Amino acid sequence: MSELLVTGGAGFIGSNFVHYVLANTDHTVTVLDKLSYAGNLASLDGLPSDRFRFVKGDIADAELVDPLVERSDAVVHYAAESHNDNSLHDPRPFLDTNIIGSYTLLEAVRRHGTRFHHISTDEVYGDLELDDPARFTESTPYNPSSPYSSTKAASDLLVRAWVRSFGVEATISNCSNNYGPYQHVEKFIPRQITNVLRGERPKLYGTGENVRDWIHADDHSSAVLTILERGAIGETYLIGADGEKNNRDTVELILELLGQPRDAYDHVNDRPGHDMRYAIDSSKLRDELGWAPRYADFRSGMESTIAWYRDNEGWWAPQKDATEARYREQGQ
Ligand code: NAD
Ligand code: DAU
Repeated sequence: MSELLVTGGAGFIGSNFVHYVLANTDHTVTVLDKLSYAGNLASLDGLPSDRFRFVKGDIADAELVDPLVERSDAVVHYAAESHNDNSLHDPRPFLDTNIIGSYTLLEAVRRHGTRFHHISTDEVYGDLELDDPARFTESTPYNPSSPYSSTKAASDLLVRAWVRSFGVEATISNCSNNYGPYQHVEKFIPRQITNVLRGERPKLYGTGENVRDWIHADDHSSAVLTILERGAIGETYLIGADGEKNNRDTVELILELLGQPRDAYDHVNDRPGHDMRYAIDSSKLRDELGWAPRYADFRSGMESTIAWYRDNEGWWAPQKDATEARYREQGQ
């Protein structure tokens, strides 16, 4: 049994990971999260109080972070500013959290010799053309497009430097787009589901040809746990579930599953610098560590995600109006 410190555990993927770990292992978990607009304590409701505790605070606060790291066996670092659109309007918080916050954690794990797993994104590799047969691998050169992805790339490089220069025991994973419960309504899939549930039309950026490689958050969690338990120190693992879909097909599926005409959506202003396609080759994780995703069928994963948003309006409704007001200002 280990004590895990999970940063950003009140966010979308972090909270899914905490639920997954407490249900599937004997580990105890401390969540460190500053409860930004994207953090929600309600995402951590119902967890066993003898194996879980919550600390509110900033990962860039070295005095707070140090003792938390000292008493942990491993740090799993999810905390980040995570939304590309926000990074285009105000990049500064992305530098503070994604770069300085990650640096602060790295210094603490260096002092205390603590195992560190860094959660990152496939966006560090830039994008692919629609007709390119290639997929991202661990050796694809870094080429991030947005303020968000460039700060994630910076944090990955810090981790690699701390491994090589200071012997920090770290691993990195770069995952594709996640979907599932507890995702903020600013993101593509929950935005469209909650629009339809409210009688609004889904909003598609540009033509909707952009491709994302979807993975269920539970599969991301099982992959991270696998890397934490069996990953080789200093290594990077790509996480993906062969889930490439273009945005138009995804919106049409959501409309169909909610009993609406498949064309009942609007085209809105495109995102500046919008990455065209992401695609992950996760062979290394599968072949070397024996991991495999469990949610092979996007349609049934989407059905259960829709059911979750239908059943949990109290969780998302408080964020919805403000989120849509921000999008309206951008013509999105
Ligand atoms: P999210 O925005 O839903 O959650 C981020 C969490 O971090 C929030 O709870 C927020 O309060 C917390 N946080 C932000 N700044 C903090 C700070 N300075 N100190 C402490 N806590 C802070 O994000 P998400 O979608 O769950 O993403 C989590 C991680 O996974 C990020 O590192 C992201 O880059 C990575 N990732 C996300 C995806 C995806 O599809 N969402 C895919 C691959 C990788
Ligand atoms: O690839 C992993 C990344 O996936 C993570 O690193 C990020 O943290 C996460 O936010 C996500 O980034 P994207 O920019 O791909 O996700 P988003 O949900 O914002 O958008 C998904 C796609 O849908 C993208 O092509 C933009 C488009 N989109 C988005 C919104 C919000 C729309 O067409 N309409 C919308 O309303």
